[in-house]
Amino acid sequence: DWKMPDYIGEAVEKIRAQVGDEEVILGLSGGVDSSVAAALIHRAIGDQLTCVFVDNGLLRLNEAEQVMQTFARSLGVKVIHVDATEQFMGHLKGVSDPEQKRKIIGREFVEVFQTEAKKLPKARWLAQGTIYPDVIESAGAKTGKAHAIKSHHNVGGLPETLNLKLLEPLRDLFKDEVRELGVALGLPHDMVYRHPFPGPGLGVRILGEVKKEYADLLRRADAIFIDELRAADWYDKTSQAFAVFLPVKSVGVMGDGRTYEYVVALRAVQTQDFMTAHWAELPHSLLGKVSNRIINEVRGINRVVYDISGKPPATIEWE
Ligand code: XMP
Repeated sequence: DWKMPDYIGEAVEKIRAQVGDEEVILGLSGGVDSSVAAALIHRAIGDQLTCVFVDNGLLRLNEAEQVMQTFARSLGVKVIHVDATEQFMGHLKGVSDPEQKRKIIGREFVEVFQTEAKKLPKARWLAQGTIYPDVIESAGAKTGKAHAIKSHHNVGGLPETLNLKLLEPLRDLFKDEVRELGVALGLPHDMVYRHPFPGPGLGVRILGEVKKEYADLLRRADAIFIDELRAADWYDKTSQAFAVFLPVKSVGVMGDGRTYEYVVALRAVQTQDFMTAHWAELPHSLLGKVSNRIINEVRGINRVVYDISGKPPATIEWE
């Protein structure tokens, strides 16, 4: 039987005993696991923790502000906010292969994180939001059991190159326990129960070459989709939902003019384990409302389509 207040107390004691008076650095992504790890470690050691939040220019709308609001302002966590948009966009220029994009985004993250870590020479620990299923999965990978079509591990190799000890306070927890812990630590419900977001972010939701202009359009379309899903009580009934940017133009009419603009695809799936998934049978009225709002509010998009492909044979992400 798992009791939250006892669990927090024990976890806090364990972190204090491990770390002593040394300093800890953590890469905050805005995702559930790193957020809960940050909140727990901060509860244990306060200012001995420094978080690094890297904005790669491929995050969701207002994500950086939300992370800074929750951690820096509400909880009083030390967070270094690095806007590395230009660096990521520069390295992604001209690259259209999905796996190549993943590699570049992962590599640049390590690069930016290392640069920040060097500015904190007193740090002895690297904290990570590794959870129990990750531990199992990487054990499987070593014995060749895990089989991934896409390379998911975007930040491998950090501890080795930084020469830091690893602090992984969520290693024994399942996802639902991590969420419960996050709520008990005072993190906002919407953050803790958010759909998963891939490490490469919008980088794999902009088909082909990534451009800042595309990311800006996609962010706004995606936010409208998520807003309307929440308003219609469909967010929690889907496992993952997002917009995808298609870099093709199609013809439309607006007023008495002709438009020639980009297309956005909406994807919403229901799944237990993300290995197989069904496309969500969203109400047509909801899809219609999302489409109208995107086309009216996001100049540059004049057509919205809904993805009705299951996994398999399609994957959840388009890249
Ligand atoms: P697919 O597209 O393979 O996605 O059906 C299954 C789940 O994995 C997520 N995903 C990723 N997560 N880095 C990540 O951290 C990645 O490169 C990546 N690719 C896919 C996807 O969002 C879905 O939840």
